[in-house]
Amino acid sequence: MYGLINQGLHDLAVQAGGEDLWREIKSGAGVALEAFVGMDTYPDDVTYRLVEAASAAMQISPADVLRAFGKHWVLYTARRGYGAIFDTMGRSLPEFLANLDMMHARLSLSMPEMRPPSFVCEQLGDRRIRLEYWSERAGLAPMVLGLLEGLGEMYSVAVSVNQSVVRADGGDHDEFIIDYVPHTTTQSGANADRHAVVASDA
Ligand code: HEM
Repeated sequence: MYGLINQGLHDLAVQAGGEDLWREIKSGAGVALEAFVGMDTYPDDVTYRLVEAASAAMQISPADVLRAFGKHWVLYTARRGYGAIFDTMGRSLPEFLANLDMMHARLSLSMPEMRPPSFVCEQLGDRRIRLEYWSERAGLAPMVLGLLEGLGEMYSVAVSVNQSVVRADGGDHDEFIIDYVPHTTTQSGANADRHAVVASDA
């Protein structure tokens, strides 16, 4: 995966426990590199090892590391200069989710070696979405859960996510049912909401 992902894990670890925690995680993962380069690619195994090592160092499950990472990723990518892409890909959560494949396709113009996931969206009512998550990689469903939570914060909607199909149980993809309550105040774009999240996180 692109180093940007591992840099996001670095950022999450530093936020949780400073550079000392990140050094512990890197050492636990057997990563000797001083730093990851965002636009270089690294074997997926490095990322999985970092997640395992973070789980051991932070004493939370690997699934919880992935979930925290997914949530963090939304804010992190915005900070890394990808904020505009959120705005152009949708002014509401359902619109954005429907455009996820287009978003990764657009990103792959500048990251040609990317092997992105694929999502299929079905609106089941005015407040419920069924989301299929397809990936050539296994084990990342908890990251999607965290991503959906992060997107909920970004779009200021209360989301409740339940996984309805679990690939680890023998299927070929994961599926989520997302219940959301749209906010009623005037929406001035995803960026405005995201800045509000950043401000309340500070
Ligand atoms: C502007 C924001 C984003 C950027 C820059 C970005 C970029 C990336 C990159 C570089 C990868 C690694 C793929 C590879 O290197 O082969 C990735 C993977 C992934 N992305 Fe995004 N992404 C963004 C937003 C999102 C959002 C909002 C979702 C929400 C569902 C998402 C879901 C995923 C998942 C689940 C993976 C793991 C790879 C897999 O499932 O096989 N991404 N993304």
